[in-house]
Amino acid sequence: MPHYLGIDVGTSAVKAILADERQNAVAEADVSLTVSRLHDLWSEQDPEAWWQAVQTAIEQLRAANASAFADIRGIGLSGQMHGAVLLDENNRPLRPAILWNDGRSFREAQELGAKHPELSHAMGVIPMPGFTAPKLLWVARHEPDIFRAIRKIMLPKDYIRLKLTGAAVTEMSDAAGTWWLDEARRDWSDAALAATDLNRQHMPDLVEGSQPSGMVRSEIAAQWGLQGDVVVAGGAGDAAAGAVGLGAIEDGSAFISLGTSGQLFVTTKEFSPAPEAVVHSFCHAVPGRWFQMAAMLNAASCLAWTASLLKRDIGDLLRETEAAYRSPSNVLFLPYLAGERTPHNDPYARGVFFGLSPATQQTDLVQAVLEGVAFSFADAKQCLEQAGTPLTYAGMIGGGSRSAFWARIFASVLDVPMVRYQGSDKGPAFGAARLARLAATGEAPEAVCTAPSILETIEPQPQLVELYRPRIEAFRNLYRALKPEFVRA
Ligand code: XUL
Repeated sequence: MPHYLGIDVGTSAVKAILADERQNAVAEADVSLTVSRLHDLWSEQDPEAWWQAVQTAIEQLRAANASAFADIRGIGLSGQMHGAVLLDENNRPLRPAILWNDGRSFREAQELGAKHPELSHAMGVIPMPGFTAPKLLWVARHEPDIFRAIRKIMLPKDYIRLKLTGAAVTEMSDAAGTWWLDEARRDWSDAALAATDLNRQHMPDLVEGSQPSGMVRSEIAAQWGLQGDVVVAGGAGDAAAGAVGLGAIEDGSAFISLGTSGQLFVTTKEFSPAPEAVVHSFCHAVPGRWFQMAAMLNAASCLAWTASLLKRDIGDLLRETEAAYRSPSNVLFLPYLAGERTPHNDPYARGVFFGLSPATQQTDLVQAVLEGVAFSFADAKQCLEQAGTPLTYAGMIGGGSRSAFWARIFASVLDVPMVRYQGSDKGPAFGAARLARLAATGEAPEAVCTAPSILETIEPQPQLVELYRPRIEAFRNLYRALKPEFVRA
């Protein structure tokens, strides 16, 4: 029976899923990655570490289900978006990759926006430091020798494709996050490339996420024990791959993703830019679809950070906090550990606990963290409203969606029903496996990208909605009051 492999090159881990023809996950692997933060605002990873982690994940999948693995017909790639992988003429990385949550190119992003205000509309978003284009301006300014040696600029998952197929190719949904893609035309923008002293030669070829991008090279096929021809699909940036996994490819399908980062994502049938709202309007991973997204740099990562500081298990903390929950916490938490993109575009913002007293308990802090992340999504909801897309419900995906307690907080903070799905924590790797299947079989996206079965729909509680409203305002006021201090710190 044919099987399809999805590989997600995340920030905290490489995740791989092997799916059968009935779309059941028959084996999964998860290999941790670390981030290097050499200086304040910096966030880097070594592309070779991704490749090592992919190979370890493959060994785990083969050990878990050798016969299914040998039947792989297609591979789909998903990955952290926006990262700058700079390659020399031998396709070797010239420096560590600069990641999506790296804020060093703040000045360059501002300059790009000021010099080329007309481009933000076509690029679907204002230039922000996480995106690839401003990073290249930073490299040109601070590491000119490296800039001159660049032959290709790749996105993280596309480095793995290069290893698998030998081809320099990306696809629309990840290219969308570079700030070099003309989103409406689904093609590179010569004007945006020229604004960073680059041209098409520096860019990989473009395919749609559900199209083939090349075949697995024979050496890799032999090494991995693959039989016959194995196609590698375009795949998707992790946001769009998550959407494909959830079946969110129709106009208006909406969900929040609670991974290391957070997104509020709505699929659109047309390109609908709203750069003034700090919304990202990007190409989707299937042809003829786009999406609007509010992108937050801190989500489930805040809970992981809290648990690691307290040296506690996340599950235990959630259970204790749920048992102690009475009403919104007196403690406020600003979740901006790694700065923030939507709505603040502020790499200097930092995490804050506010309102501590001698009575504050560990569970108050954890509740404040869960609420603080949810409040940042209330800001995201407001941005999408400004962009003309009111939210009426939201699905949930990513590791954070495992917690029904967190989902209840979200429902009352956002004042919309939250939908939890079976297996929704599988996330982008599962979407990538679906794209692999589309590329291998040529089936229609709607036939494959169906919604998983609903676990539960959580309605907002009117009394809690009222209690949360002033807390959201206090959260917004706290950021406003502290903004000048973040810059000074
Ligand atoms: C989306 C974004 C993050 C990364 C992290 O704009 O920056 O979701 O893709 O994985």
